[in-house]
Amino acid sequence: MRKIIFGYTFDDYLLVPAYSEVLPDTVDLRSHFSKRVMLNVPIASAPMDKVTTHPLAIAIAKEGGIGIIHRKMQLEKEVEEVKKVKRHQAYVILAPWTLRPHNTVVEAKNLMQEKGISGIPIINDVGVLVGIITRRNIQFMRNGDTSMVQDVMTQKEDLITGQMGILPRDALDIMKRNRVEKLPLVDEHYHLAGLITAKDVKKSEEFPNANVDACGRLIVGAAIGVTGDFFERAHALVEARADVLVIDTAHGDSKNVVSALRRLRPAISIDIVAGNIATASAAIRLVREGADGLRVGIGPGSVCTTRIVTGNGVPQMTAIMDVSDAVSDDIPVIADGGIEYSGQIVKGLAGGASCVMLGKIMAGTHEAPGKLIEIGGKQFKDYRGMGSLAVLNEGGERYGAKAVPEGVESIVDYIGTVAKVFEQLTGGIRQGMGYQGCTTVKMLSLSPTFCRITAAGLRESHVHGVHITNEAPNYKAP
Ligand code: XMP
Repeated sequence: MRKIIFGYTFDDYLLVPAYSEVLPDTVDLRSHFSKRVMLNVPIASAPMDKVTTHPLAIAIAKEGGIGIIHRKMQLEKEVEEVKKVKRHQAYVILAPWTLRPHNTVVEAKNLMQEKGISGIPIINDVGVLVGIITRRNIQFMRNGDTSMVQDVMTQKEDLITGQMGILPRDALDIMKRNRVEKLPLVDEHYHLAGLITAKDVKKSEEFPNANVDACGRLIVGAAIGVTGDFFERAHALVEARADVLVIDTAHGDSKNVVSALRRLRPAISIDIVAGNIATASAAIRLVREGADGLRVGIGPGSVCTTRIVTGNGVPQMTAIMDVSDAVSDDIPVIADGGIEYSGQIVKGLAGGASCVMLGKIMAGTHEAPGKLIEIGGKQFKDYRGMGSLAVLNEGGERYGAKAVPEGVESIVDYIGTVAKVFEQLTGGIRQGMGYQGCTTVKMLSLSPTFCRITAAGLRESHVHGVHITNEAPNYKAP
């Protein structure tokens, strides 16, 4: 039987303002990317070759979001990209350099010099912490000194230690109080479990909203496909300490995706997000196979031509609402594609998304890998669909290895650093939540009233009847 549904997108709706006691500054923007991967800001970057490689992933995680490393590269390269993000910062060193009590102070000094470190935990044969040696302990060492580490180290009874899992603030407090620069972490049997340095904690505090794991490393996701080396790649990315995998396909409601998820889910320890989808039935199917988050969007993207070339797709707000209504609250919905303004993010979140995924906006940032191009005194960056002819010719197979593109190649305005862009986007979301009287992202989706607007309503919403004399940083006329 033929069925007809109506589909609406961001610009078809406005949120009806509600009574509010909420000031934008008091809004909590925390949300989820997947079941276990949290966000401090509900924004992710798209796994596209002109969007997410490690510089953008680092910048976006520092602002509280998450970057998803694209997959149009060899397995080893993608692994390296993930490692670069994870190595960028950390306040817990999980495998610090160590020595034994019977090593000589000369060996300790050499190790410090060679590795550029200023403190070395001393452990016994079974890994129990028995002391620490720092520059201070060896400052009066003379040439030809034959003493052993155990003769000069800070002894066990004088050691200041912390428990694994300690918060960076608390670690810094302990270090300040005891005037030490290094805090060895121990487990319940006093085995050395890690090392925190005051320098690393202070460095990580430069970005207080950064999205980090338990060791203070930036959070990052990585895309995988469902054919070729995907299984091996998934394992390698987990090994590289990716926080989440994203099954990145054009049609997530397909046999290939279901079987890949069925194979991956029991074998992989971290969250797996699956997509892209646009319907309730697809959502239910993928969640049944164990998806920990759903990426929603068939054809809304700025460089996408899927809807035009294939006649398929669902306008994005309807897709977001249908998917989020179909699954339980603990399955985050990622609204992927079609976002140009912060107000559309607010509408997506109110429609049930946990976060949004940005391609075009992120492609225009300083940290994106696209080429900076100057035309007529204006700056642009190149951006292309992962189903564009150029990508297909280079072997990209998100849209099948074929010569029928579902995307285009383009340039977008250069818009400065990720930090600057996030300031505007998060400011707009906060103000939007203020109009709704909501302090949390979850609250925003509980009982919003959407107003279906007409073309006249949309025209009225945009700047009209004037000539802009000074461009606003968060608005460009369509
Ligand atoms: P925006 O609007 O943020 O969208 O640029 C990014 C999303 O677009 C999707 N994408 C494509 N869709 N053909 C498509 O139909 C393509 O070539 C293509 N490349 C990317 C993808 O979901 C991305 O996150």
